[in-house]
Amino acid sequence: MNTNRLSASMAASLNAQMTKEAHAAQIYLSYAAWLDDKGYAGMANFLFRHAHEERNHMMKFLEYILERGAKVKIEAIPAPGEEPKSVNDCFEKFFQQEVDNTTAIYKLVKESFEEGDWATWHFMQWFVKEQLEEETLAMDLLDKLKIAGGEKASGEALYSLDRDLKDKPDEAGLAEDVTTENP
Ligand code: FEO
Repeated sequence: MNTNRLSASMAASLNAQMTKEAHAAQIYLSYAAWLDDKGYAGMANFLFRHAHEERNHMMKFLEYILERGAKVKIEAIPAPGEEPKSVNDCFEKFFQQEVDNTTAIYKLVKESFEEGDWATWHFMQWFVKEQLEEETLAMDLLDKLKIAGGEKASGEALYSLDRDLKDKPDEAGLAEDVTTENP
């Protein structure tokens, strides 16, 4: 009896996304190592934690594919690509990586919708919210860097940003949680 509840194309897309999440983890590890090497231990710490989150995302896809009775395919993870050229460049790349990932997540949502695979559609909603949070987090960081002077940020401004990021919560506040008392 066939107990596989995913179509062949959906299983392939979910497997590809699983590898994409692992790739994001490698990218953030490389950025974190670059930052640490430049002396920004707090910013590095933030991206080390974020790399860990991406591995958790990878595991969610892996577990879901198994849960639906399909085959998990562990593939090679591509190399992370170029090193950042500056702290500003590093966080612009971080933002762009998250936007690209959102595009990939939306594609999966659309595919599951078109197939009428409501279990996968439902599973993907967690990632839609997660991407909203991650883009917000990345945008907040870029705003802070912009205020600090962007590419021209002084050593002092980068020092204080580095200190802030060391213990920054990994979750961003979302518009849907806002009230008039708690803007
Ligand atoms: Fe797994 Fe940052 O998205």
